[in-house]
Amino acid sequence: MSTTPPLLAPDIEAGLRRLRLGAMRRLCPELLVLAKTQRWKPDEFLRTLIEAEIASRDASNTRSRLAAAAFPVTKTLDEFDVAASSVKRATFDYLASLEWIRAKENLCLVGPAGTGKSHLLVALGHRAVNEGKRVRYFSATDLVETLYRGLADNSVGRVIEQIMKADLVLIDEIGFAPMDDTGAQLFFRIVAAAYENKSLGIGSHWPFEDWGKFLPEHTTAVSLLDRLLHHSVFVATSGESFRLKEARQRGGGPKLT
Ligand SMILES: Nc1ncnc2c1ncn2[C@@H]1O[C@H](COP(=O)(O)OP(=O)(O)OP(=O)(O)O)[C@@H](O)[C@H]1O
Ligand SMILES: [Mg+2]
Repeated sequence: MSTTPPLLAPDIEAGLRRLRLGAMRRLCPELLVLAKTQRWKPDEFLRTLIEAEIASRDASNTRSRLAAAAFPVTKTLDEFDVAASSVKRATFDYLASLEWIRAKENLCLVGPAGTGKSHLLVALGHRAVNEGKRVRYFSATDLVETLYRGLADNSVGRVIEQIMKADLVLIDEIGFAPMDDTGAQLFFRIVAAAYENKSLGIGSHWPFEDWGKFLPEHTTAVSLLDRLLHHSVFVATSGESFRLKEARQRGGGPKLT
């Protein structure tokens, strides 16, 4: 059975190409041979072709959504060691179910360096992409810079609309760098636009009571947190940094006693 399948009739080949049915076009020659030799019913043949096209489109859409999500790294939920983290199994399972995205709840991950905040955000985003959701990842600095660029050419409203097309917007590393007045207001606009409308997933090493340290204006901080926390799952990550633990296992890093 290693003979090359006959070429597809040119008109069929051209028709499938014009209709952009690429998977069908690629599979068709081989499947025609198989269907003839195995005496498939016509509907069986058609079904196999259609299923192949659907599977190929689904895979291609997932790839596009993954690229659009702009994750800085690849992390998965399978790689997340729940037992070794401070996140409770029930909380992890709820997050992994993505029910909170369907309910338009927010996820707030707060905890010290290396405790899995970014890992969880990216891995949950990844699962959401695989389940057909549109996701967009930003570091807080990138988000503010993107919005700032919108201010410069008067398109900030459109930029926010564009971001809000995602079902889940992830904003990581909030508070790594202080925000100026304008940056904080732009950040507020995103949180307000998402409020009860989209899910936000945020990561920060600052407990909320300290957000005043990087948000310049108290009222902005209060209004922002009010919206962010209204319908949200709060997860405090804690413990030693995974990075330090790994460095120590490799024999490097500072000696901690
Ligand atoms: N529970 C876990 N299971 C497996 N790997 C983990 C876990 N927690 C963290 N890691 C790994 O440890 C490293 C640091 O984690 P991560 O980047 O998520 O930390 P973070 O909380 O975002 O820290 P920072 O505040 O510095 O950004 C990553 O390589 C991550 O994959
Ligand atoms: Mg991080």
